[in-house]
Amino acid sequence: MHYIRFLKVPRLIRIGRDQRTLTAKITITTDLGESFLATDVVVEALLEFPSGVPIPNAKQSRHTWAGKNGMRSIEVSIAVPRKHTGLLRMSVRAVERKYADVESLQDTFSPALPGGIVAVNSMPIDIDSSHTSEALAKRRFSTNLGSISIWEETGESIARHIWDAGLVLSSYISQLSPYLKTPSTTPKILPRLPNLETLLAKPNLNILELGAGCGIVGLTFAHSLPDISTITLTDLPEATEILDLNLSPANFTPKSASTTISHQVLDWSEPLPSNISSTKWDLVLVADCTYNPDVVPDLVKTLGRVRGGSRGVVVLLAMKVRHESEMVFFDLMGESSFEVIEKCKIPLPMVDDEEGQEIEIFVFGSGKR
Ligand SMILES: C[S@@+](CC[C@H](N)C(=O)[O-])C[C@H]1O[C@@H](n2cnc3c(N)ncnc32)[C@H](O)[C@@H]1O
Repeated sequence: MHYIRFLKVPRLIRIGRDQRTLTAKITITTDLGESFLATDVVVEALLEFPSGVPIPNAKQSRHTWAGKNGMRSIEVSIAVPRKHTGLLRMSVRAVERKYADVESLQDTFSPALPGGIVAVNSMPIDIDSSHTSEALAKRRFSTNLGSISIWEETGESIARHIWDAGLVLSSYISQLSPYLKTPSTTPKILPRLPNLETLLAKPNLNILELGAGCGIVGLTFAHSLPDISTITLTDLPEATEILDLNLSPANFTPKSASTTISHQVLDWSEPLPSNISSTKWDLVLVADCTYNPDVVPDLVKTLGRVRGGSRGVVVLLAMKVRHESEMVFFDLMGESSFEVIEKCKIPLPMVDDEEGQEIEIFVFGSGKR
């Protein structure tokens, strides 16, 4: 999966008395930011109202990303219609549908699409003032129930942008949710995890997410499943601000009015906060948190603490295996009496030659002593 990112947020340039242009520097990278898109694609910049409705008379501008020549960034600019006043945003996406600008959570799974390039939207910009926008960008994904919007930071902070495993797990849950009460009709495209499906069909679930980052996984669960009682997203303090924004009522409403969604700090190297240790959790979500073997022992200890004395908790883990060293997670889980009860692999759409990448999803039970 590749992501269009703003390296520099759009800024307004005035040419003469009434000509105005919005200009931004973008790049197209993988989630880790370690490699740039190495294929040529045409991207287009568009002007929209903050709601996503196109600005009348604004002409999109097209730019060629020369990935084969090793391009690492490109400046995109677009003229603002003369009469426009007030707020607007810049949206940048791949033009060719075959690359799927990953507008919907379904796109991440589509066998018809060779690769995914995730589109990006800027913060709303008031073009009547010279105020520059904050270093934030929004990704919007449509779902079978509406849409989900996720704010990210434009920089390279690990906690504050979307990761492939989180996106694919979100896509999986979003597509599975309509079939939970009638599993016999589940589309063939979805790999089956029957124990997980049985759990998710139960009422009054208490769900905890560890290392939630921007919150895409927890938000998708609360968006897709009607029977969640409590869902608590947790991460280090550096993720608090972006989680505040993404969980704010202005940005997100759970599917069910009876679902309580919240976030709080939970550091795996610390004892559990008392409200977490006193709750009986049915499911713990962990997406793309096993890439650093140094912190994995603390992560596994935290899972053990969350389980506490009860053996009922299920852990749902999504990962993109990047190094062999990540396998230590499975050894430690085994030593802590967690066992894999089911698993599946989902191919990751890639535009480049980096075929063969996949996201692995594991369901762990609490095992026997
Ligand atoms: C690669 S990001 C994945 C974010 C999100 N789950 C997703 O899939 O988009 C890993 C997350 O683990 C969190 N993390 C790393 N060490 C942690 C620790 N000791 N305690 C709590 N969270 C931690 C990071 O802050 C980061 O948000």
